[in-house]
Amino acid sequence: MKHVLVLGATGSLANVVIPVLLKNPDIKLTLFARNINPLSKILADNVCLVQGDVLNFVQLNEAMQGQDIVYANLAGSLKEMANNVVKAMKNQHLKRLIWISSMGIYDETGQSHGAILQPYRDSAKVIEQSGLDYTLIRPAWFTNDAAIDYKLTTKGQPFIGSQVSRRSIAALIDKLIQRPDYAIGESLGIAKG
Ligand SMILES: NC(=O)c1ccc[n+]([C@@H]2O[C@H](COP(=O)([O-])OP(=O)(O)OC[C@H]3O[C@@H](n4cnc5c(N)ncnc54)[C@H](OP(=O)(O)O)[C@@H]3O)[C@@H](O)[C@H]2O)c1
Repeated sequence: MKHVLVLGATGSLANVVIPVLLKNPDIKLTLFARNINPLSKILADNVCLVQGDVLNFVQLNEAMQGQDIVYANLAGSLKEMANNVVKAMKNQHLKRLIWISSMGIYDETGQSHGAILQPYRDSAKVIEQSGLDYTLIRPAWFTNDAAIDYKLTTKGQPFIGSQVSRRSIAALIDKLIQRPDYAIGESLGIAKG
């Protein structure tokens, strides 16, 4: 059984990822958010709901106990969140982290996105310097398209595309969880292929 902690489990992307992950009978999901009410509809034996704040180290540290993989789907004070996630993972001797970031953090789209992406740049740096087995995901603008259709780019390559379906990102996260050695230490851009 693989234990996966989803931080920001009520997020628009996590909403699409969670049902995909639940198709795998070998996964146990812990869903973490400040407001867990929207998650009460997810009733399954292999799901556990935890109400907590990522900025509260004690709550985060407790939720990390016994996990194998952390999938962070967060928005807000991302640098502070990243610092807390790395600290709690190290405290619990966890290694594998999947972190949702954004396209544009390295100016790889050919445009400068200015201050709006600063929390994404800062948090990415924290993750990249963490020593954890991380995969950063840099998605294009999300769509609700049902198709799985994506192309990946690595750090240093120009970002190609402007949109990607949430379903495609879910397929990538599912693959990362099923294949523990895949894309460790990578920062993957994802956009419609
Ligand atoms: N939309 C796009 O096209 C797009 C494109 C590229 C990248 N992104 C980025 O991808 C990330 C995920 O997107 P999304 O649409 O799923 O985001 P979202 O809908 O805004 O969800 C963010 C999640 O973070 C949780 N959260 C916020 N502060 C928290 C805290 N202190 N402690 C615990 N949980 C907290 C929220 O839950 P609670 O409030 O209940 O705690 C929510 O579950 C975001 O950073 C987004 O900016 C989005």
